[in-house]
Amino acid sequence: MTRSARPNTLRNSPDGKNGSAATGRAVVIHPHAKSRGGDSRSPDARLEEAVGLAGAIGLDVVHAQRIALPRRRPSTYFGAGSVEALSETVEALEVDLICVDAALTPVQQRNLERAWHCKVIDRTGLILEIFGARASTREGVLQVELAHLTYQRSRLVRSWTHLERQRGGRGFMGGPGETQIEADRRQIDERIVRIRRELDTVKRTRGLHRAARRRVPYPVAALVGYTNAGKSTLFNRLTDSQVAAEDLLFATLDPTMRGLDLPSGRRVILSDTVGFVSQLPTMLIAAFRATLEEVRDADLIVHVRDVAHPDSDAQCRDVGDVLSQLGIDADDGILVEVHNKIDKLAPEERSLLSGLAAGRNDAVPVSVLTGEGVEGLMHRLESAFGSRRKIVDLEVDLADGARLAWLYRYGEVLSRRDDGLRAHIRVGLDPAHLGRLERFRRDDG
Ligand code: GTP
Repeated sequence: MTRSARPNTLRNSPDGKNGSAATGRAVVIHPHAKSRGGDSRSPDARLEEAVGLAGAIGLDVVHAQRIALPRRRPSTYFGAGSVEALSETVEALEVDLICVDAALTPVQQRNLERAWHCKVIDRTGLILEIFGARASTREGVLQVELAHLTYQRSRLVRSWTHLERQRGGRGFMGGPGETQIEADRRQIDERIVRIRRELDTVKRTRGLHRAARRRVPYPVAALVGYTNAGKSTLFNRLTDSQVAAEDLLFATLDPTMRGLDLPSGRRVILSDTVGFVSQLPTMLIAAFRATLEEVRDADLIVHVRDVAHPDSDAQCRDVGDVLSQLGIDADDGILVEVHNKIDKLAPEERSLLSGLAAGRNDAVPVSVLTGEGVEGLMHRLESAFGSRRKIVDLEVDLADGARLAWLYRYGEVLSRRDDGLRAHIRVGLDPAHLGRLERFRRDDG
């Protein structure tokens, strides 16, 4: 994770705003069944992912471990032995917070907080924090807030919220009275109603917002991929040296969008998106989709994969599933697959991979870290955008200098014949530019 704007506190106030809570020393636990059944992912890889997620919200992970459970206990999820052992860890390492990489019931969460004398969050809570930090559209922000409030409401059981909020940090115990819980619940309900109403309005005007974004006169490539695949590192490497500070267009864009000049000089926009995670809690699916809205509008999707990860194939399937749920068809030439982190592969794994890539003629092997393959990727992007271009034949008045200049600026002029009055031009245009051209024509008519 390389983005800078991460919050370093956890939200838990009923109004959904940032409150004071965890000060940051965290333990991450990945509980898993003793027998793994049909789950092909290794518990170690899952633990590593959970540590990455905790790091993403600014927590200082001082200890991480996986725990094999013969069964889950309704009251505390873990068995008495594990609860006791972790209690000692909390004490010894002065831990503020334990992230349990599983879905806890509110009762389990409360009981564990009592037993460990520290704050406990589960996987849903953790992912909510990340989405909260990353949502950029109004709809995304509202969907995340709604999910957050719904989650908090379900967790308003005795010994949560207020006292903890007032004291902050470690050592909260006891809890607010029922009246306080009722008041919190009412406050949350009122806010949920307001957000739902606002979401309805935002959804109604969504088409307008999309049209406004489309005024950006360049095609967009969206980077997607599993968490930790290297999207942000690639985003920075490709765009860092490119955007001049005085470029006003990009100053008005979301910070997760930047301009990129391809080798031919053609300008496109690169958009970074929130990472995918396995087993996304149901409550978060709407919020996640809303944060991915720009992907649906992109002209090209660049799927960044960590091919050195033991679960790389399962991760790839997860991403593919979500993309198809978003209505994106990987077979229509919109997707470029990037095989990242090849520097971590042994030579024989590398040649196996490049054999596969050659067979499918689509994936681009790179190491964003060392820079290997990055230039090849730029060329691949160039040709992928090129293949999405449509060739059109136009007649333009020779006197219409602005239109001609526009065509040369944004299109690829393939041939031109002037007959004294008009230029007969054959030009390749991206779908986005074709749309603008259609609008010009309508305005003319
Ligand atoms: P999310 O923000 O969770 O979606 O992650 P991301 O996909 O944006 O990953 P990010 O760019 O933050 O990179 C994750 C980690 O992988 C960082 O520690 C990077 O330094 C590392 N990384 C990225 N590319 C490479 C690479 O080519 N090789 C190696 N060895 N590490 C890499």
